[in-house]
Amino acid sequence: MKTLISTKPLPNVATPLLALLVAQGSIPQVEESLDRAVATGDYKGKKDETLLVYGGGKAQRILLVGVGKAGDITRNSVRRAAAIAAKRARSLGTKAFALGIAKEARHGLGAAELAQVAIEGAAQGGWQFTELKKQPEDPKPELESLELIIDASDKEEAEAGRRIGDAIAAGHLYTRNLQMQPGNVATPTYLAEQARTLAAAHGFSVTILDKAQIKKEGMGALLAVAQGSAEEPRFIVLQYQGGTEGGAPVVLVGKGVTFDSGGISIKPALNMEDMKFDKSGATAVLGTFEVLGRLKPKINVVGLIPATENLPSGTAIKPGDVVKSHLGKTIEIINTDAEGRLILCDALSYARRFKPAAAIDAATLTGAVVIALGHHAIGMLGNDDALLAEVRDAGERAGERCWPLPLWDDYRELLKSDVADVKNSGGRAAGTIAGAWFLREFVDSFPWVHLDIAGTAYLESEGAAHAKGPTAIGVRLFTEFLLKRAGA
Ligand code: BES
Ligand code: MN
Ligand code: ZN
Repeated sequence: MKTLISTKPLPNVATPLLALLVAQGSIPQVEESLDRAVATGDYKGKKDETLLVYGGGKAQRILLVGVGKAGDITRNSVRRAAAIAAKRARSLGTKAFALGIAKEARHGLGAAELAQVAIEGAAQGGWQFTELKKQPEDPKPELESLELIIDASDKEEAEAGRRIGDAIAAGHLYTRNLQMQPGNVATPTYLAEQARTLAAAHGFSVTILDKAQIKKEGMGALLAVAQGSAEEPRFIVLQYQGGTEGGAPVVLVGKGVTFDSGGISIKPALNMEDMKFDKSGATAVLGTFEVLGRLKPKINVVGLIPATENLPSGTAIKPGDVVKSHLGKTIEIINTDAEGRLILCDALSYARRFKPAAAIDAATLTGAVVIALGHHAIGMLGNDDALLAEVRDAGERAGERCWPLPLWDDYRELLKSDVADVKNSGGRAAGTIAGAWFLREFVDSFPWVHLDIAGTAYLESEGAAHAKGPTAIGVRLFTEFLLKRAGA
């Protein structure tokens, strides 16, 4: 999607669709037919409320999108309304659309962030995945361009926001398309190839460990998960150096289970196909590197992705097995379906060598986080209050909200094993916390935050502002976090 900033007055905008974001109760006058809808009280501009009219002006269609009460408007209201507009443009089949934001709908937001979040929203709402289908007879075109209508005095600032919005939109698209790839396409080797391609395109350094090298490295927990599968595991290391040489990096870790059947502790068949999304942490890290490559902020970032399938077979791990992790701690496997923590623990202990300024992992780790927070928030836990607050703030700015759960010492008991240093499942109680506590056992003296994205990585049904399926959660949050750290 191409974007451009335009400073034309609204009536001069010739476009198949002009979307106007309006605040409740203060709808600007642009067009007679709209004025009538407002005068009758039929249209109020409530949150998510839309009105499509075919007026007589230069715009073929005008779409009003309500962002809600002026005083409640945030970056996310604008992002959401822009997504609704883009979604409508897609269903109307217009290749281009223009977007204006009424003054009353800004609520003090600066021109740069306005442009950024409008583009982010449009990218979110305009997405469709048709790659694996035959072309329909009347294909709905992709959204090709977005014209943002901005006051002339805001032009320069808006251009700066557009640059960021464009990069995030590209990362978002990249991640969603990768999430969507089925398990027979997106294998661990495929993820590694994606990382190589990104590295070549943007000049990152990349190291891919194959099975033999993973073994040599001593990543016994990752190997244990991979041993039931014919597909080989990979351990992916991506490095972006935008900061000073030798400066402590931020390490991003993404769970890359390309398909999670549960292994010997097999999952029920219902919705098991969704477990292709168990690589969503990994794809968020890759998408973030796509953004980094485009924006080149002044910061050092390392991406770590342990990638494997989790399948049952004659060579698979069994409940009761004990394996030795990269850190050296032994792990009793209670449940082979608690595989995410097994592959992440080796990645987190591998991270030590980079002496991270901070490490953040994103993982579709537990069904329990869906019970706790539903599909609206990321479960957030960690070992450092300042970093937790920083990540939470980034999530607020990104419209990817995080909610904290406690990581008190009391919960460590859940993971006591009779035979090993730790066990991989503490049963059903406090499932998300137990998962995070397991990871904490392998975090050796650096600030760390764990994001459980099992409830937010993909959505089972369509919403006003998003399609069914993958959400690219993490890409915006990571980007906000890194840009702020880079001082950008
Ligand atoms: N990948 C799943 C978690 C998941 C559940 C992701 C629902 C997306 C939607 C993870 O590997 C898993 O199976 N976790 C188990 C852990 C349990 C065995 C301790 C779970 O949540 O049931
Ligand atoms: Mn599992
Ligand atoms: Zn899993």
